[in-house]
Amino acid sequence: MNIEKIIEALKNVTDPLTGVDLIASKKVYNINVDGDHVVFDLIVNDLEPMMKGELNLRTVEEIQKVYPNANVNVNMITKEVLAAQKAKAEVSGDNGQGKKEEYKTFVQPLLDLSGNPLPQVKNIIAIASGKGGVGKSTVAVNLALALKELGYKVGLLDGDMYGPSIPTMLKLQGKRPGLKKVYGVDKLLPIEAYGIHTMSIGFFVNPEQAIVLRGPKLDGVMKQFVKDVVWPDLDYMLIDLPPGTGDVQLSLVQLLSVTGAIMVTTPQQVALDDAVKAMHMFMLNNVEVPILGVVENMSWFSCEELPDKKFYIFGHGGGKVLAQKGSTDLLGQIPIIESIRKAGDSGLPAVLSEGPVRDYYLDLAANVDKQTQIRNEISQPTKIVDRTS
Ligand SMILES: Nc1ncnc2c1ncn2[C@@H]1O[C@H](COP(=O)(O)OP(=O)(O)O)[C@@H](O)[C@H]1O
Ligand SMILES: [Mg+2]
Repeated sequence: MNIEKIIEALKNVTDPLTGVDLIASKKVYNINVDGDHVVFDLIVNDLEPMMKGELNLRTVEEIQKVYPNANVNVNMITKEVLAAQKAKAEVSGDNGQGKKEEYKTFVQPLLDLSGNPLPQVKNIIAIASGKGGVGKSTVAVNLALALKELGYKVGLLDGDMYGPSIPTMLKLQGKRPGLKKVYGVDKLLPIEAYGIHTMSIGFFVNPEQAIVLRGPKLDGVMKQFVKDVVWPDLDYMLIDLPPGTGDVQLSLVQLLSVTGAIMVTTPQQVALDDAVKAMHMFMLNNVEVPILGVVENMSWFSCEELPDKKFYIFGHGGGKVLAQKGSTDLLGQIPIIESIRKAGDSGLPAVLSEGPVRDYYLDLAANVDKQTQIRNEISQPTKIVDRTS
């Protein structure tokens, strides 16, 4: 029996928690093959006994489709026990599975002990600002599509429960998410637009209705968007946050391991105080979400008559000052361009049209990607904030 084929077979089994396959959800560890025998560890934290039984049957069924005579042994285990075994094996020099020569081992690259409910998503990036109207959603949408252009699998979660603008910006007004049954439980499917996957409260209510949601209810919506949506395997999930430091930001860091935050600001100094406050929320001692950088939006205006002249209508230098205050980088400056606004209103984002505007967002995406990789190299995954502390 071949390990690769067994991995392929296990990709046909859905993880009850995430709704995606067991391999992408990082639930399978230590596959060992010996003759007709195959043994592997399956992480089953938070699963009901009934579900465990069903999951066992499903994995055996899929492997036996490929190898009808396979004798499958699923070792259901919690991730804490697996981590302890691994640590012990490392100390003793044992591979933890006996030492038979013919054993081949498949170990998932990282054992995720963080309790992250989206193991199939590699990077979760919050797009934040101090004030509204600075172009946060416009940046989020165009950045998401630019990352997709760079070849990544991208999701966009509209976390702005008061003023969801993603549906309009992606021409998805009136669309309703589909449902998928995962082991008998209904889950929501994200909506696809221009090759990215998205979810917004705007798919459920009219934007005017969204405004009546408050604190505890908002918390519930955020939780549902994380736990009850079948997000596919993604390289990047961007989260467009409401402005400031409110309940949505709080529930986000309590729910997810946020890889990093990007601050969006306009260049004027008066907007800076709010932007600094919003940024500091992520930098708090018990939150510790790295700031990947700053995007300065509406940096200048140029007109056709004087294309080389920059008019600093909204002031000058705010992005750089904010970046310095957060000991981080200025990831990009995007001028005021009429076509960006028009594109947003019409639902065909500016980055999708050929021309100089597109390059602003592609450059921004390349910088975001680079900073994310550096962040992942130099520091551990962000800890999810403990609700009780
Ligand atoms: N660089 C830009 N040039 C021109 N218009 C822009 C630019 N960025 C954003 N806008 C427009 O400004 C308005 C506010 O942007 P939006 O992304 O909704 O802000 P926020 O999400 O911060 O409230 C929208 O009409 C949008 O199309
Ligand atoms: Mg917005």
